[in-house]
Amino acid sequence: MNILILGSGGREHAISWKISQSKLCKNLFIAPGNAGTSLLGNNLSINMNNFEEVKKLVIDKSIDLVIVGPEEPLVNGIVDFFKSDKILRNIKIFGPGKNGAMLEGSKNFSKDFMFRNNIPCGKSKTFDKNTINEGLNFLEEINSPYVLKADGLAGGKGVLILDDLEEAKSELIKMIIEKKFGEASNNVLIEEYLEGIEVSVFAITNGKDYVILPEAKDYKRIGEKDTGLNTGGMGAVSPVDFADDEFMKKVKERVIERTVDGIKKENLDYTGFIFAGLMNVDGNPFVIEYNVRMGDPETQVVIPRIKNDLLEILIKCFENKLSEVDLNFTKGYTTTVILASNGYPESYPKGDEINNLEEDSSNKIFHAGTIIKDNKVLSNGGRVLACTGFGENLNEALSSSYKIANKISWKNKYFRKDIGNDLK
Ligand code: AMP
Ligand code: GLY
Repeated sequence: MNILILGSGGREHAISWKISQSKLCKNLFIAPGNAGTSLLGNNLSINMNNFEEVKKLVIDKSIDLVIVGPEEPLVNGIVDFFKSDKILRNIKIFGPGKNGAMLEGSKNFSKDFMFRNNIPCGKSKTFDKNTINEGLNFLEEINSPYVLKADGLAGGKGVLILDDLEEAKSELIKMIIEKKFGEASNNVLIEEYLEGIEVSVFAITNGKDYVILPEAKDYKRIGEKDTGLNTGGMGAVSPVDFADDEFMKKVKERVIERTVDGIKKENLDYTGFIFAGLMNVDGNPFVIEYNVRMGDPETQVVIPRIKNDLLEILIKCFENKLSEVDLNFTKGYTTTVILASNGYPESYPKGDEINNLEEDSSNKIFHAGTIIKDNKVLSNGGRVLACTGFGENLNEALSSSYKIANKISWKNKYFRKDIGNDLK
């Protein structure tokens, strides 16, 4: 098969790496890709949010299957575009349609979906410019910390957690009236604060069947001990010890099964990954958010743990044969440490030459913001590389990750030194 993967991050490098190992994969294309993916297949420079450009590429390269990495094209309706096009409707595209992608694209929609389908989550109310006074009164009635969430996509920045009532009120006004996150904060959810530890659970589903992939824990803040600004994620660990069999049974029964049943009952168009961001509250899973794609950098620890042929699983998903899949995971631990450019998640330099990128059997480097110019690998983004390490236990995996994280060099390298410390 000829496969096209859309995206350019560490997630897409990890997916490409796994797909390239499949005996069913003939030609692999990544658009736009990065320096890492260029070693596995052909990078093609297109704007993946321009669906006509994607169409041209799919036809030119005789693509059989498209895997959509990030959420934006999904929320913008790339799957619907394929299904309504005479030529493209016969091409498999892995990702939900526009209505399914609303589970990530609108927090208000996803919250109502959880309420309707009895999926455990924090209580919440949604306010807009007509009901802002009720929102301000509501803040006075509830206890701190106050959780304010922009309804729409806000590049991972749309959630504010505030201790101070006056600050919460002022932020609510900024979000709704001053459009702090543009249209994304026209509607704002005020949500019950959930106290616990976070864990991410991933599944592949077609809205009928599902398979659950290994869980992971992500480290979202830029600074050590979870301080400073939120980022896309600075590291990840899998497995997560506190997500034991008893907890994962609850996740399966209360979250994944009810989510898949809800997708079916509500006729959402869904063939793709689903990612439930969970809070473990006293041993019980509560959904904080859905994403309609894999996580980044969680993918860089989840994918290497899957022993099966991923492409075969995706094909079974399209053929309604997921129940035939016997998933096998590696027993050990996998960790990843993100190397970022100094300044990320705010402004940062690009174009630095990166050296010492050699791997050994205890690690794998996944590229994110990198490009190749004149045979040199250069930094080209905020998150630049993911140093994935393998080990029999958590400490061993972390030392494999940190061994290469320390070795790789460029002028503006930054990374957190405490990934996984809270789980030791
Ligand atoms: P989200 O974009 O919904 O994943 O939220 C971003 C981050 O905010 C999450 O990863 C959590 O750390 C935190 N968060 C979101 N909702 C809640 C909540 N209800 N209670 C506590 N923390 C939350
Ligand atoms: N690492 C979190 C995310 O991909 O949303």
